[in-house]
Amino acid sequence: YYEVHNIVVPHIGPVPIAKGDFHKLPQKVQKFIAKWVDICAPRALYICDGSKAESDEIIHKLVERGVLTELKKYENCFLCRTDPADVARVEAKTWISTEEKYDTVPHVREGVKGILGQWISPPEMEKEMNDRYPGCMKGRTMFVIPFSMGPIGGPISKIGIQLTDSNYVLLCMNIMTRVSPKVWETLGDGDFVKCIHSVGCPRPVTRKVVNHWPCNPERIMIAHRPTEREIMSYGSGYGGNSLLGKKCFALRIASVIARDEGWLAEHIIASVIARDEEMKDGSVIDRDEGCRTYVVLRIASVIARDEGWLAEHMLIMGLKNDKTGEEKFICAAFPSACGKTNLAMLQPSVPGYTVRVVGDDIAWLKFDKEGTLRAINPEAGFFGVAPGTNFKTNPNAMKTFQKNSIFTNVAETADGGFYWEGMEDEVDKNMMITTWLNKKWQIGAPGKAAHPNSRFTAPASQCPNIHPDWEKPEGVPISAIIFGGRRPTGVPLVFETFSWQHGVSVGACVKSEATAAAEFKGKMIMHDPMAMRPFMGYNFGNYLKHWLDLEAKPHKVPKIFHVNWFRVDEEGEFLWPGFGDNIRVLDWVLRRCAGEEGIAEKTPVGYIPKKESFNLTNLGDLKWDELFSIPKYYWLDDIRESKRFLEDQVGTDVPQVIWDELDEQEKRLREL
Ligand code: GDP
Ligand code: PGA
Ligand code: MN
Repeated sequence: YYEVHNIVVPHIGPVPIAKGDFHKLPQKVQKFIAKWVDICAPRALYICDGSKAESDEIIHKLVERGVLTELKKYENCFLCRTDPADVARVEAKTWISTEEKYDTVPHVREGVKGILGQWISPPEMEKEMNDRYPGCMKGRTMFVIPFSMGPIGGPISKIGIQLTDSNYVLLCMNIMTRVSPKVWETLGDGDFVKCIHSVGCPRPVTRKVVNHWPCNPERIMIAHRPTEREIMSYGSGYGGNSLLGKKCFALRIASVIARDEGWLAEHIIASVIARDEEMKDGSVIDRDEGCRTYVVLRIASVIARDEGWLAEHMLIMGLKNDKTGEEKFICAAFPSACGKTNLAMLQPSVPGYTVRVVGDDIAWLKFDKEGTLRAINPEAGFFGVAPGTNFKTNPNAMKTFQKNSIFTNVAETADGGFYWEGMEDEVDKNMMITTWLNKKWQIGAPGKAAHPNSRFTAPASQCPNIHPDWEKPEGVPISAIIFGGRRPTGVPLVFETFSWQHGVSVGACVKSEATAAAEFKGKMIMHDPMAMRPFMGYNFGNYLKHWLDLEAKPHKVPKIFHVNWFRVDEEGEFLWPGFGDNIRVLDWVLRRCAGEEGIAEKTPVGYIPKKESFNLTNLGDLKWDELFSIPKYYWLDDIRESKRFLEDQVGTDVPQVIWDELDEQEKRLREL
């Protein structure tokens, strides 16, 4: 029972409102919508409320149109097949626009192509936008999605408004973020992150629509204006490109906000010092026992540090020791499709811990007044890699998506179930299967049933081991940070870094095999510093400096570790069983955090576990020495290569501390 109004937009005339009351929205929001209605020229406006009724209505329509297929085996679950040309994030078409180039990208060596973000000048960006957006929603409905990243109204939470012409996006946003009319109340006259998304396929369509999935792959452009807190995504409906709360907002834009708030704090220092100068002959000086400048600076720098926070590509999980009842939380940063979701939902293979998930992809981290690093998960759902997921590897994920979930580019069994590579033992061998490309297929036949980057989208609240505090507005305290990637050779299962600075240098040198999460073909080993290469919101050198600056009193910085679940033997077989057995590694990590001595051995790259201290119960034969070897010449090559990478890609922006750490590591390796 929505009132129907028309909003009158210059040049366009009245635009019918299919749902919602435009005139009750905050003024700034009305202006924002009117501007984009004017540009995009949708045929109607639909103001979303995030309700179940809303999702049901949209689902009903999409099933009728053939966009979604009901998976009858489960409750309220649907399959979506995209245009096969729109299946992953597109890094080459992702841009950030700032006045000053080096705010966004580092000083890359001449003649080298930068890989840590792409900068575009504001006028060029304007031109690209003008080439795409005018009239881009003709014949389509513009959905207005008010969403909160983090619990609505929470101290670390942030609000975004997404305009989109994709109802699939609306459905997924309803799962992945908190969409609610309460967002309007919380927002009031406040600022919000402006998100504009179009599939770039106005009606009448000129490009053939495949699978009822309108998109415009040739013209994709994922653009960010961090200063304006604005995201404009065109041409793709795929998750990482279109669910703008996720990578675009919660990583790229949020990392800039996090940095800016740190800078804001530097202004506070400056103004406190300025005031101090003015009061040189004033009466307050004696209060500070003659150390006024020192005291003022100290207080101000505490404020500064308190304000600086981080937006990272990290899972968050809690591990409760069943004997002591003590619980510790950790964060881990792995590149896309390298094991975050699986680790976060871990089902331990050995007793000892109760493991619960707080988040599986993004962490916003901030030090509290006591100096404890706290993390929140800004999302409300999981957008997880389907292949490889089964009741053995990740039972918690399987249980999470038995209802109210959307599956994208997976295969379908004849009895209305989902199917993907990795489910061979859980489906009848003779079952008829329809692949993601709509071809008939059976287990054992050539080719793949599901796209390697096929995904499930499921509400986090349905996860059997979701942590009771997962929506705690102030977040959970973090004891360890873990970096990792897919490293088939040379890199041990786990090592502990020597210090915060050493840990940051290890993070800066993270590398991993390319995966299907983005457009790269083949399995080349790529640099993915801090697992943030595709998601850097600003100059990576400044980002490293921001990390290094966080180590200052009263901050209790967590220990930093590096893991690698993916080392292989000569036959190419994984040396480590992974998944539920990763608890054994986390057990060692937590014991190190608790200060346990005698369980670690020093190597040039960090501490590794002593075999006798590591839980190997029921593991069968493990090639321990191969799993933990640190080949001297491999590592010397690796460090030279990493230095070259930093010289080429980050140049003069690399903080000196990082060079010092790398030099010391090289020295330790030479002495091996
Ligand atoms: P995310 O994108 O970082 O969240 O990665 P996922 O947790 O979704 O995992 C991506 C792929 O890696 C999936 O196919 C998983 O089955 C696989 N994977 C995850 N953890 C492990 C592990 O410990 N060992 C092995 N061998 N594969 C893993
Ligand atoms: P993930 O994220 O693979 O890091 O979970 C999704 C994406 O890369 O689009
Ligand atoms: Mn994931």
